[in-house]
Amino acid sequence: MDLKGKWLQRSRWWLIFTVSALPVSLLVYSAVNQQLGADPAKEIVLELGTWAINFLWITLAITPVRKMFGWNWLAKYRRMMGLYSFVYAALHLLAFATFMVGWNWKILIIEITERPYAIVGFIALLLLLPLAVTSTKAMQRRLKKRWSTLHKLVYPIALLSLLHIIWQIRSDFSEALTYGLLLCFLLGYRFYQSRLKSASSVKRSAGGIKLKTQTN
Ligand code: HEM
Repeated sequence: MDLKGKWLQRSRWWLIFTVSALPVSLLVYSAVNQQLGADPAKEIVLELGTWAINFLWITLAITPVRKMFGWNWLAKYRRMMGLYSFVYAALHLLAFATFMVGWNWKILIIEITERPYAIVGFIALLLLLPLAVTSTKAMQRRLKKRWSTLHKLVYPIALLSLLHIIWQIRSDFSEALTYGLLLCFLLGYRFYQSRLKSASSVKRSAGGIKLKTQTN
């Protein structure tokens, strides 16, 4: 890659990194300036949770969008988006523990072990942890095929996160419905692509057998 290409790639990386950090920066700014409304604690928890799920969905969307539009450069940012999802989810839990239960361990443990929405949220966060830890290129090289298998955890994580918000619905279904429909589309696309891939490999091997029998 030439110097201009490298510079473009670096600038793009920094731009995406900075834009992804904006939600938490704006949240800190609004909190400091007391602009978070009547229940700032709730607002902080909700906002961080929303961005955790947004980044998870963006991570899942990268491959379909890359394939649909031929934007191969997007692949480079999948790891960053996944890590942002983990960071926002960890901050979401931290904010919940700090502002909603005041680090009362007894209440925190009861919440995480007895409330269905918190149980699934906690499992999703726990599952995100090994993905974050093994997200480096060195780990990818070290784990080889096991890395891809491990990173398939992103699908149950997405389903658990969706369940986490479905279990919290009181009256408005629109948010859960939007995330649900998007997830159906993203998973449906992947399923369709894998079916296409296996169909074409069956065709290729059938072609190979045909060729072999003809030459024999
Ligand atoms: C131990 C783990 C978690 C705990 C204890 C937890 C707790 C909470 C709580 C208490 C709320 C509701 C705040 C309120 O309405 O007063 C909430 C909302 C939310 N959480 Fe979590 N959460 C956890 C993990 C996660 C994870 C892993 C994600 C996504 C990746 C997530 C995404 C969300 C979202 C999107 C909302 C907003 C739902 C809405 O707008 O109604 N949470 N969470």
